Amino acid sequence: MWKNRNKFLIFLLWIMEIRLVSSFTSAILCSRIPGLTPQQRQLCSESPDALIALGEGHQMGAYECQYQFRGHRWNCSQVWQEGVFAHVMFVGSREAAFTYAIASAGAAHSVTAACARGNISLCGCDMRHKPTSARRAGGDFDASDLQSDTQPWKWGGCSADVDFGMKFARKFLDAREIEGDARTLMNLHNNRAGRKLVKNLLRTECKCHGVSGSCVMKTCWKSLPTFRQIGEVLMRKYNKAKHVQAIKGKHGLKLVLSKKNRFGKQVHVPKRMELVYLQASPNYCERNVQLGTLGTAGRFCNRTSNGPESCDLLCCGRGYNTRQVRRGNRCRCRVNCCYNVTCDVCEESYEEFTCK
Ligand SMILES: *[C@@H]1O[C@H](CO)[C@@H](O)[C@H](O)[C@H]1NC(C)=O
Ligand SMILES: *[C@@H]1O[C@H](CO)[C@@H](O)[C@H](O)[C@H]1NC(C)=O
Ligand SMILES: *[C@@H]1O[C@H](CO)[C@@H](O)[C@H](O)[C@H]1NC(C)=O
Ligand SMILES: *[C@@H]1O[C@H](CO)[C@@H](O)[C@H](O)[C@H]1NC(C)=O
Repeated sequence: MWKNRNKFLIFLLWIMEIRLVSSFTSAILCSRIPGLTPQQRQLCSESPDALIALGEGHQMGAYECQYQFRGHRWNCSQVWQEGVFAHVMFVGSREAAFTYAIASAGAAHSVTAACARGNISLCGCDMRHKPTSARRAGGDFDASDLQSDTQPWKWGGCSADVDFGMKFARKFLDAREIEGDARTLMNLHNNRAGRKLVKNLLRTECKCHGVSGSCVMKTCWKSLPTFRQIGEVLMRKYNKAKHVQAIKGKHGLKLVLSKKNRFGKQVHVPKRMELVYLQASPNYCERNVQLGTLGTAGRFCNRTSNGPESCDLLCCGRGYNTRQVRRGNRCRCRVNCCYNVTCDVCEESYEEFTCK
């Protein structure tokens, strides 16, 4: 069952290497990649440059995942080692839900950004928001982002073509989910929630024109959210993720919330933008090769904080070791006549805590 997923991951690793070499032709690229489904191979030959953007987006997802989970017992490092999506999540947990969603959001975001930069021949700017003649605010435009609704404005610049990015990410990433089991449904659901978030967080940015910033005319365009914003919203969704089960429906398996209604039936389907998971998370405290968890022994913790990085929580009650560390720091810095900064070296001593 994990075989196809692993093949896909090997492929992504391969893409990263390709990027480093950076001299290749699409024919070679697509024929040499092992383990692609026919649909993936087709997409690859249609747009190898989009595939490269997609691989970069995956990596961006990895960095953001590690940023959001820094200091947590599960810190995303197991999933993406050395910046590469190298290990799958064995347990269909909340963390797996986050991982799939952020990887998928990263792919959609990165492909869309590459389109706007003109790096992908099949896409560019969103032509539904192409430069038009001036119009009054309102119309077919949600004017909520505009500071003032009295100036005329027009679409201008390059609006992000998020639909292309989402479609490409969907076709490519969803193509690996072929088992047709509960886990497939979970992955597909979280993939979609991640992609769609990129679109939902699109902003309208405007620029004023006119004599000395008088804003006689405005030009507006749709721009991508920063990836940090996506990470933060997904983190909130992670905290509110819903436990689901797969049941047989009229049209095959479907996901329903595990929570029963007052008649003891499971009838509610999860909302599209919610993250969903099938299994409770392991506690991530101890090393467990089968579950793919590394444990928290040796992790740096913070004795005074109340958050997940606190020694209490991170060390799972096992206690921690304390170490005195001395470090030389630049101090008493001063700027002399020629803007040349000189500093002294001061020795500083502090304590470091690591989980037992
Ligand atoms: C995208 O295009 C820019 C300039 O057009 C180029 O410098 C950059 O290397 C391109 N990136 C990719 C991934 O092709
Ligand atoms: C994440 O956790 C692993 C294993 O528990 C640890 O080796 C690594 O240093 C941690 N990374 C960060 C950034 O804390
Ligand atoms: C530990 O947590 C406290 C309170 O949140 C914070 O002020 C401090 O900077 C943290 N220390 C380190 C080394 O991160
Ligand atoms: C900066 O100034 C100090 C003395 O004022 C001098 O010894 C040093 O060479 C200067 N460094 C640079 C980079 O000019």
